[in-house]
Amino acid sequence: MTKILIVETSPRGGKSVSRAMTQRFLSAWRNAHPDGDVIERDLAETPLTFVTAPWLQAYFTPPAQHTSEMKESLHLSDVLVAELVDADHLVIATPVYNYNVPAALKAWIDHIVRKGITLGLDGRGLVTGKKATVILASGGSYNEGSPIRDRDVATQYLKLILGVIGFTDITFVAGGGAKAVDLGEETMEGFVASLASELNDAATVETVLV
Ligand SMILES: Cc1cc2nc3c(=O)[nH]c(=O)nc-3n(C[C@H](O)[C@H](O)[C@H](O)COP(=O)(O)O)c2cc1C
Repeated sequence: MTKILIVETSPRGGKSVSRAMTQRFLSAWRNAHPDGDVIERDLAETPLTFVTAPWLQAYFTPPAQHTSEMKESLHLSDVLVAELVDADHLVIATPVYNYNVPAALKAWIDHIVRKGITLGLDGRGLVTGKKATVILASGGSYNEGSPIRDRDVATQYLKLILGVIGFTDITFVAGGGAKAVDLGEETMEGFVASLASELNDAATVETVLV
């Protein structure tokens, strides 16, 4: 059975453009994978922690020597890593904040990049044979030709870090200009509809992994 992991980031619930884009993506995905399994990790609801000294101590101690405190320190990371490793397709839906990913998503990334599990000790990514889709909503537009294209750090960063852990098949769907929805200049439905074919393709086009 195909399993998809959806990582939602926006704290804005029903007002969130990235979440509305995910819903459009998911309805196409469910049509294409009627028996598929959807796992949702909502970072707005997850009590994420940052990297701390006890966490690092546990991280750099071989698992066989883990104390119960170390196991506890790494518990959330273990859960998040297991969700990622179990999935065939990862979807990250996120706002752009200050040109980058929100802190909650960065915290998730700090939990899932784990030496020996998702990142090989030789530096090679171990999360292979999976597809990733990144759904971004941003107030500004960073498309080709945009005068602020070089500020699109969020896309560059996610491409880099997903590549580092082993993803080679990554599709980005950029919901640029989402401020039009907040300003009431465009409806949420109209905005998402303008991205429907990209979201549909990301959900349904099977790539041959080599
Ligand atoms: C704190 C904050 C920082 C933001 N920074 C940027 C930014 O750097 N670039 C941009 O294009 N939009 C920025 N925006 C606009 C959001 O990306 C936009 O509202 C987007 O729709 C948020 O995603 P959501 O609708 O899924 O919550 C920012 C919004 C907030 C609240």
